[in-house]
Amino acid sequence: MSSDERRLLIKGGTCVNVDHKFEADVYCQNGLIREIGIDLKVPEGTRVIDANGKFVIPGGIDPHTHFQLPFMGTVAVDDFYAGTRAAVAGGTTMIIDFVIPGKGTSLLDAYERWRGWADEKVCCDYSFHVAVTWWGDQVAREMEILTKEKGVNSFKMFMAYKDVYMVNDEEMYHAFECCKRLGALAQVHAENGDLIVEGAKKMLELGITGPEGHEMCRPEEVEGEATHRAIVIANQVNCPLYVVHVMSRSASDAIRKGRQRGCVVFGEAIAAGLGTDGTNYWHKCWRHAAGYVMGPPLRPDSSTPGYLMDLLANDDLQVTGTDNCTFNGDQKALGKDNFTRIPNGVNGVEDRLSVIWEKGVHSGKMDPCRFVAITSTTAAKIFNIYPQKGVIAVGSDADLVVWDGDATRTISATTHHHAVDFNIFEGMICHGVPLVTISQGRVVYDHGKLDIVRGCGRYISRPAFSSHVFGCVQQRDKIPRYEKVEREPYTGPIVQLPAS
Ligand code: URP
Ligand code: ZN
Ligand code: ZN
Repeated sequence: MSSDERRLLIKGGTCVNVDHKFEADVYCQNGLIREIGIDLKVPEGTRVIDANGKFVIPGGIDPHTHFQLPFMGTVAVDDFYAGTRAAVAGGTTMIIDFVIPGKGTSLLDAYERWRGWADEKVCCDYSFHVAVTWWGDQVAREMEILTKEKGVNSFKMFMAYKDVYMVNDEEMYHAFECCKRLGALAQVHAENGDLIVEGAKKMLELGITGPEGHEMCRPEEVEGEATHRAIVIANQVNCPLYVVHVMSRSASDAIRKGRQRGCVVFGEAIAAGLGTDGTNYWHKCWRHAAGYVMGPPLRPDSSTPGYLMDLLANDDLQVTGTDNCTFNGDQKALGKDNFTRIPNGVNGVEDRLSVIWEKGVHSGKMDPCRFVAITSTTAAKIFNIYPQKGVIAVGSDADLVVWDGDATRTISATTHHHAVDFNIFEGMICHGVPLVTISQGRVVYDHGKLDIVRGCGRYISRPAFSSHVFGCVQQRDKIPRYEKVEREPYTGPIVQLPAS
């Protein structure tokens, strides 16, 4: 059989979509789901995967990775090969990474550079958000080209990393306006970058140079303030907003309250924030503590992960990603005498699904349908690739996972598929194990064995104006928001100002 005719039958599983679970076989051919039903008759020679007693779920979509990101003087070790390898081993079949151009440089050039890095390495489908790190006419023009010609429908603004990536409120306002006009989703890394710089100075003056200083220089109100501010600014231009890596009660409460008063805002929690916490920054072993350094930091309040999961269960937060951006211990050691030089970032792309199943489904906070929503379907809807991705339906991409909700696995850096030498979930036992991962109708992971092809992932274009994001925004624009008061012209006295 030529690879174009590849046929696959997933037999006897319980399929899970966001709206219901159902028993059915799923027949895939040429990378698409062709038929769904009981006891399907399929052509001879079709490969059969036994899913009896197991779930069949849409492949995970991780909307937040940074593979081989050049950052803080070094480069993330999970490149597009190791990163997507880890992804499929964990049941994720699509990632959305970030193109991050430097200040004053071309967004289009950066996009092409990132494509060059990714296309020859990716083992599953992928797409790109693009960061806006400065403002000007050129940026606005390039955002338009990226949206109309390159399949980019989301742009991220950093409110932190002062002098490197950070934009100020005025720049953010213009970027939001532009996103709104183009039908692209504005995303923010929400932390007050000015306060972080001052906080870091304060810590170093106090002689606090270790990883605990990273959290103390940017406590959760620094994240909460920026989250609230971004929501306010976006609301002034009626621009939908997506807050990446929500790490704290304060930030998630700002999103929940924003949604309650009608703002169109989405919140993304990440595996790190759901599966571990910031007490690790106080660990006596420097290398261990540094392994958890990321921005915004994990919070030392150990009830935060459970709180974030409660919000995900109730749709106060909508999506999960990972912010996978990994650095080896020796790279982290660049900041051994000064926490501000520790490269920021942690793992997650391989373990996200298992961590969320353990803390969300096995704990009884959500059912498998909600699990599918927060790990796949809602991201597909928000980033406008639904129903190509994120659902088990005839005509959708055959990106699927046979999932055992009862089996357990122990997470460890000694067995993971990342390039990095550390795992922030080390020793954690999770219910919820991917048995088989199918990408574009091909089995790429089967009971612990990978069968991946470097470069076989496709770049997925994402059209503008996702109806999930812009549906009510466009309607709101039709309704006059501001009304002029008609009055007689003023004819009374006016105070005379001095000539100067
Ligand atoms: O620490 C992090 N999050 N590293 C990656 C860059 C970012 O801020 O997302
Ligand atoms: Zn960020
Ligand atoms: Zn990130």
